[in-house]
Amino acid sequence: MKKHLLFCLSMALLIASCAQPDNDIEKRIDNYLSQMTLEEKVGILHAQSKFSSAGVPRLGIPELWTDDGPHGVRPETLWDAFASAQWTNDSVTAYPSLTCLAASWDRDLAALYGKSVGEEALYRGKDVLLGPGVNIMRTPLGGRGFEYMGEDPFLAAEMCVPYIQGIQSNGVAACVKHFCLNNHEVNRHTVNVNVSDRALHEIYLPAFKAAVQKGGVWSVMGAYNLYEDVHCCHNDALLNGILKHDWGFDGVLVSDWGGAHDGEQAARGGLDLEFGTHTNGLDAGKKDAYEDFYLANPYLEGLRAGIYDEETLNDKCRRVLRLMMRTSMSGDRGFGSMNSPEHWADARRIGSGGIVLLRNEGGVLPLKGTPAKVVVLGENAIKPMAVGGSSSSLKAQHETSILDGLKAALPGTEVVYERAYQGEPFITGYNYSLYDISDPRSSEKLLSDAIAALDGADYVIFVGGLNKGKTRDCEGKDRLDYGLPYGQDEIVEKIAAVRPDMIFVNVSGSPVAMPWINNVAGIVQAWYLGSETGNAMADVLTGRVNPSGKLPFTFPKALEDCPVTTPEQYPGILGEDEIWQSYYTEGIYVGYRWYESRGIEPLFAFGHGLSYTTFEYGKAKASSRVMKDKLQISVPVTNTGDVAGAEVVQLYIADKEASVDRPVKELKGFEKIWLEPGQTGTVKFTIDREAISFYDEEAHDWKAEKGVFEALVGAASDDIRTSVEFNY
Ligand code: BGC
Repeated sequence: MKKHLLFCLSMALLIASCAQPDNDIEKRIDNYLSQMTLEEKVGILHAQSKFSSAGVPRLGIPELWTDDGPHGVRPETLWDAFASAQWTNDSVTAYPSLTCLAASWDRDLAALYGKSVGEEALYRGKDVLLGPGVNIMRTPLGGRGFEYMGEDPFLAAEMCVPYIQGIQSNGVAACVKHFCLNNHEVNRHTVNVNVSDRALHEIYLPAFKAAVQKGGVWSVMGAYNLYEDVHCCHNDALLNGILKHDWGFDGVLVSDWGGAHDGEQAARGGLDLEFGTHTNGLDAGKKDAYEDFYLANPYLEGLRAGIYDEETLNDKCRRVLRLMMRTSMSGDRGFGSMNSPEHWADARRIGSGGIVLLRNEGGVLPLKGTPAKVVVLGENAIKPMAVGGSSSSLKAQHETSILDGLKAALPGTEVVYERAYQGEPFITGYNYSLYDISDPRSSEKLLSDAIAALDGADYVIFVGGLNKGKTRDCEGKDRLDYGLPYGQDEIVEKIAAVRPDMIFVNVSGSPVAMPWINNVAGIVQAWYLGSETGNAMADVLTGRVNPSGKLPFTFPKALEDCPVTTPEQYPGILGEDEIWQSYYTEGIYVGYRWYESRGIEPLFAFGHGLSYTTFEYGKAKASSRVMKDKLQISVPVTNTGDVAGAEVVQLYIADKEASVDRPVKELKGFEKIWLEPGQTGTVKFTIDREAISFYDEEAHDWKAEKGVFEALVGAASDDIRTSVEFNY
């Protein structure tokens, strides 16, 4: 506890120090700038290898090293290629995916995650860790949903801030990405997003704004897509306008790899540091000619010719030097640590804290006593998952499978494994290893062997879902459909026909269809849990940890129920200029805002998650008047069950008489409270102007209208337990 307080205090000091310009740092930057030649200045604004940019050797300014992010530190690549460098000392702790972290609704876990992964980055010699990703889940098909923090801007904002602060407490920069509107992967380099100002500000920007203004993030990565017909990596309106001017961002805008496409815009449009996949953005013809990057020789020539001004150049350099002062040139950062038992414990705690118990008919979970026989089925019970997903793929020092985790947690039990289905037989990752998990049996035989194994089982646990393979939760490709791959639906139906008490463990970072939901007793959402997958899952299945995760996004029953259904909305319509136009006509109605406004009942609602205990909510009370713009809502919550546990108490606000169309309700607060059996605690929320405001498109600003509001407090967006009206 004491350690935690000290950590919070040091982070608070750190943030306080980033909010104000550090005069000492600015003087040092002035000094360097006064000594740097034009060539040296341009030399620090672009990549010199896949993941590093140059320093100024003459002046003792070191190189800057970046690496992915966000779930651990990516293995070393070749200098000029994404292929593995074949190092043998770069295996790391794989942490749970950011969706899992978001599902914990636990700010302390987010701080722990950031601190822990930041230590690994520091040990690996990295100055910038490329994460967190905070793009909003707009469609369940989006390939990178697993790397992001769900469908709600408030939740994503609240959870990314401590993660960022945790990383940066190590003197390693976080790099919040992808700014902005990267909500799907199909045609990601050539899709122009058409979105209303209101949706932009209410849905897609708040997490980035919080990262900057509350998290004090030191770098931001531009997105691949276009907005208002300009690529986001050098989009003047977004970068110079909103990010730097309106929000006061004083860090570095890094391009996504190959995200710059235009010299003039790169020079003037707010880009500070250019990284690339190939030269000239997407032009694969000429490989790795770093001097041909837009912010290299072309920029230098433009400066020499007087086309570009030195003031802008100096601003870019100042930002890059500031990033260096905060990281590589900071005098007081330590050395970090990697693969420590403490980090594994962190990964396990975050994992078990984010697992969501979706369904628990007849209290099938947790497993009771020492069962004689447990049958584990499904490929995902044995499949390593840290590899995969593209840039966030990791070389994990170890990755405990769910099967091994269960065996270790149940020493007196016969744990029988049958695969039941087969996906891709090989697992690849950066050429450093190829696991062959192929099985010679036919699919009929795999299934009949699985059914034969059920005989005499006390419990049947099927571990299925997606797997970070291409089109199954992976960067660069969206999912092709909403269902489970490899015929899992049919297999689940057949197993459930024999064992209706079966438990389905769903490994995925996005929602999936579950047409068989009523035929199984238990459903657990496993995410991708990293190094400690098996242990974290066994903790929850056996009841060593009482689940307390809640969904950070809605599981719709069918894809047709989603807010995004027409080709105009997704993936967009191809225009004559080879640019796809994607129209966000659903506006602010994303996620639960959509389902609630249309009265569509989801499979599992946003915020849903069960526990092994029960919580009773008392009456919500609002303080009698607004004081200094603030009002307090409080609600007593009692653990009425037999085991201790944590409850995520959620506060939604409904505007009763708005001048504009508003969602039925919106998340504006949450607290995770730990309660012993029989214990009552009071949860308090503070509501301010921000919580009741909407973005006024005419005024181009947020507006708080006076009037009557309702505070709705509950255990999920579809499970409101108490409410109170208030005037603001
Ligand atoms: C991804 C980024 C990643 C970068 C470097 C890009 O393709 O979009 O998220 O950080 O590659 O690997």
